[in-house]
Amino acid sequence: MNDDVPKVTDDLWTVMSTATAVRRYRAEPVSDEVLERCLLAASWAPSGGNGQPWRFVVLESVELRSLITSAAQKTWEVMKDFYKLPEVADGADDPKSRTLQTMAEHMRVGGGAPRLVLFCVQPQRGTTELQQAGSIFPAVQNFLLAARAQGLGAAITLWQDACAPELREMVGIPDDWKIATLLTVGWPKGRHHRVRRKPLPGAAALDQWGQPWQRTQ
Ligand SMILES: Cc1cc2nc3c(=O)[nH]c(=O)nc-3n(C[C@H](O)[C@H](O)[C@H](O)COP(=O)(O)O)c2cc1C
Repeated sequence: MNDDVPKVTDDLWTVMSTATAVRRYRAEPVSDEVLERCLLAASWAPSGGNGQPWRFVVLESVELRSLITSAAQKTWEVMKDFYKLPEVADGADDPKSRTLQTMAEHMRVGGGAPRLVLFCVQPQRGTTELQQAGSIFPAVQNFLLAARAQGLGAAITLWQDACAPELREMVGIPDDWKIATLLTVGWPKGRHHRVRRKPLPGAAALDQWGQPWQRTQ
């Protein structure tokens, strides 16, 4: 075995299996030093032709935060109608209600999250939208893993869609760049827990769709 290949450590496994979306944060600040490790990890991601067609913009000004808050609140109103979400009574304690309450609170606070990071991608000539996404979301995932590894929590959001023209103008995003996502980041209020996913056999196959991926002897 090549000595350059690191062993898969328990730590990496723990980070990957517990990097859930975290939407509730304590008030304490996230230092530049901690955030920079996440940004550095993002910059190590693969991209088509190693073009690294990304910008990670940390949003901090009062004006930008306020724009994001109103976008998050608009998004919540649209979501509530679209998914016909029930009003959640204060104190309801079943898992579905708790998730809804957390999402509602996340969107109410919006731009007040301790850190906000916008991920932008410059589409390369002749690439499909899927390929363009493929040159930015690995960076997003690296960021999320580096955040989790430091004990931070973060959530992917698409709130930027509700304020895209103003956001582009205020940040000065060139016309030929797209905004991929906006991350909210902070120290989690609760504990990290394992991701909940469907069992692997339904997702993996060998040669034929729907076949178990492991050879049967
Ligand atoms: C493309 C994409 C868009 C997402 N948009 C949002 C969003 O707008 N708001 C949000 O709270 N979470 C958003 N998420 C996070 C997902 O809801 C979350 O990853 C998924 O429910 C799995 O939950 P877990 O990461 O906690 O295991 C998004 C994730 C992806 C990959």
